[in-house]
Amino acid sequence: MRLTQRTLAQPDSPIGAHAHLLDDVPANKPLLDLSQGAPGFPPAPEVQQRMADIAAHPDGSRYGPLRGLLSLRTALVEELNEVYGGDVALDDVCITSGCNQAFAMVVSALTEPGDEVMLAVPYYFNHDMWLGLDGAVSTYLKPSNGLSPSTDDAAAVLTDRTRAIVLVTPGNPTGHTMSSNELGAFADFARDNDVALIIDETYRSFIPGDAAPHELFHREAWREHVVSLHSFSKDLAIPGQRVGAVVGAPALLNEVAKLIDCVTICPSRIGQEGAHAGLTEAGEWRQARIDEIAAKQHRFEQIMAAEPGGFELLSAGAYYGWVRHPFADVPTSDIVEQLLLEQGILMIPGTAFMPADEQCIRFSFANAEIDRLDELTTRLSDFSLSRELSG
Ligand SMILES: Cc1ncc(COP(=O)(O)O)c(C=O)c1O
Repeated sequence: MRLTQRTLAQPDSPIGAHAHLLDDVPANKPLLDLSQGAPGFPPAPEVQQRMADIAAHPDGSRYGPLRGLLSLRTALVEELNEVYGGDVALDDVCITSGCNQAFAMVVSALTEPGDEVMLAVPYYFNHDMWLGLDGAVSTYLKPSNGLSPSTDDAAAVLTDRTRAIVLVTPGNPTGHTMSSNELGAFADFARDNDVALIIDETYRSFIPGDAAPHELFHREAWREHVVSLHSFSKDLAIPGQRVGAVVGAPALLNEVAKLIDCVTICPSRIGQEGAHAGLTEAGEWRQARIDEIAAKQHRFEQIMAAEPGGFELLSAGAYYGWVRHPFADVPTSDIVEQLLLEQGILMIPGTAFMPADEQCIRFSFANAEIDRLDELTTRLSDFSLSRELSG
């Protein structure tokens, strides 16, 4: 059997890449796992109860509707219109098996083999991987200034093969949030150049304050070029249940539905019931978890303000801190491996999120218990000190 170059050319998932080294972590440095961006707490009691009830129901394991349960689609539409103040309708929403599936199916519906999709750098690694796996071509939209790309940056990368621009806000790996105005400018750019603007809003609940993440759903013609992707994994703490959503034009969703039909047939019923209970019954719980993660971010920022060991915090938000390490002459993948083997800190190298090595590392502070974040001060300082001594 011959394997395709398309899949062979893609890297393995960076999540779990260091699993074989976990037994070698020093005994006096218990593992500080800041790798995967996954909630470290169980879902709300209401969500657990609903999932248990539906699992025990005689109809709970049947196939469900292709575009998701009506109850969940309705609850999501209500929430979106409350948060964004726009006019999202039921036909604009399709539930998916997680936001990753949402992205994959949308890209498959929008691109022919060889078409280009522009990814803001640093990108979410699964976006880049999927484009390669699906036969599309990633092009890289690197901000010329700060962490938000501009439409001038995009104009320099746009070609007549470009079909979509992908923005993730708040970002993974940076946690950086693009402003409503910046997103508005990208929507204008997408409209003027007849490309789709795909916004991955997995972390939207973690944006501080009550302002809407953007005003795009207020625009009369938003469906013609805007696609908004959502996840229930992070703020409802049900990542293993695999529930997300696409919000976009009904004509796009029709194509997405064909793709979903062939891949998963429908999203998990138990997960969707859990998401519905989360949206409709667990508001207080949800806010409390968001506040806890914000407190972790605050502590993390305080710790990193002293630049322990010369590690410099470039940005933080949602689940993540984006940090520059001070070792210009060493590949970041080696630094990450050494941090694990010498200091017991597990993280993801920035090279998983960008085509070049820019000395960056993603710290998923949301994973850790808040008090354990304090260990970073000594561990990062010791790491750098031991190199100074041996150098
Ligand atoms: C930006 C981004 N999009 C999508 C996902 C995956 O979400 P889901 O679990 O809903 O597939 C993640 C998970 O880390 C993410 O960071």
